Amino acid sequence: MSPSWRIEADRVWTGSLEPIFENGVIDGEGGVVAFIGRAEDAPHRSPAKILRAGLVTPGLIDAHTHAAWAGHRHAEYVLRMQGADYVAIAQAGGGILRSHDAIAAIDEAELLRVLEGRLRRMARQGVSTVEVKSGYGLTLQGELKQLRAITRASENAALPRLVRTFLALHAVPSGCSRDAYVAQMIDELLPIVARERLADRVDAYVDAHAFTVHEASRLFDAAAKFGLAVTLHAGQFADVGGAELAAKYGAGSADHLENISLPGAQALALAGVRAVLLPVASYTLRQAPPPVALLREANVRLVVASDANPGTAPTESLPLAMALAVREYGFTIDEMMRGATTEAAAALRLPCPVLREGGPATLTLWDLPHEAALAMPWGAPPVIDVWRDGRSLID
Ligand code: NIG
Ligand code: FE
Repeated sequence: MSPSWRIEADRVWTGSLEPIFENGVIDGEGGVVAFIGRAEDAPHRSPAKILRAGLVTPGLIDAHTHAAWAGHRHAEYVLRMQGADYVAIAQAGGGILRSHDAIAAIDEAELLRVLEGRLRRMARQGVSTVEVKSGYGLTLQGELKQLRAITRASENAALPRLVRTFLALHAVPSGCSRDAYVAQMIDELLPIVARERLADRVDAYVDAHAFTVHEASRLFDAAAKFGLAVTLHAGQFADVGGAELAAKYGAGSADHLENISLPGAQALALAGVRAVLLPVASYTLRQAPPPVALLREANVRLVVASDANPGTAPTESLPLAMALAVREYGFTIDEMMRGATTEAAAALRLPCPVLREGGPATLTLWDLPHEAALAMPWGAPPVIDVWRDGRSLID
């Protein structure tokens, strides 16, 4: 029989519509929740182990990361902090292309080691599920290297659960014709990725200086033939119709959206596409926040994610993004919590992560009195433990 356990918590935020239990108890056997409710309603039993927490929540879900990166971009960061422009650096061969060089120089085993280390550190921040994109390979071999490392990490149950995204259109490598590159990614690489089951979804970076709506449509048409879900980097620097495109293709999410019109937001809401907002990136780039009031007015469901990457969001911390969503974007605590749990799961097409009887014991124990306190520790939240199906992700 699997070992039984009990968690006693001052407060349990379950993620359901009536989400709170004060003085809560969660009982379970192995990886499954057997009882959740108020202490006075808990059954009498003698569990093998009893744990204490201030707050328990579903394990956090980071719905947008580029966590399979290698190398460093500190020189570029210093330049940018002194006023150099992100897009200009990219056009001069820095930025994403610098990370491409690092992927070319590393072998798959070493990349896996780097990625696993990063995922372990993310878990220590309360995260039990992470979306990870490729997109720094930028060649057949490079993208496959990233996707194989991500897939191997996804097979390790001691790490957060992964959603694997093939970011097929991120940047054109230098010396490559743009049309030939787009064709290679869609016609040559995507079929291999699908055949070898190396990704759950595909992504493209649609923007004024990146890829066009037309190029992303070609990618999404091809992805549909392989039954792959789609998502989109849209409107980070300019609104070129990315939101409308995400809506047309029923994407799980449209991400960034610093620049989006009301019709674009309405299209997202109508198609049930989540807006994944990335406050660490806009803060690092000193951009104005996305129009959160307009998104709310259109009834778009909001997600907050880290965008963890070595360029625009040099962090591994979803709680930092959550804190910035409250500080910079005016998220309510409920938006912050749902944006890192239930809405993030919906964007990734994962089962609802609400803590409930019969559901998985995928949860975080916090040394915090209230979920509102999660908006305050600036990237250093006091995590007691993080479980994936009843198993601790923290050594
Ligand atoms: O989500 N905008 C494009 N991609 C990433 C940044 C990539 C990088 O700078 O390495 C983003 O912000
Ligand atoms: Fe991104």
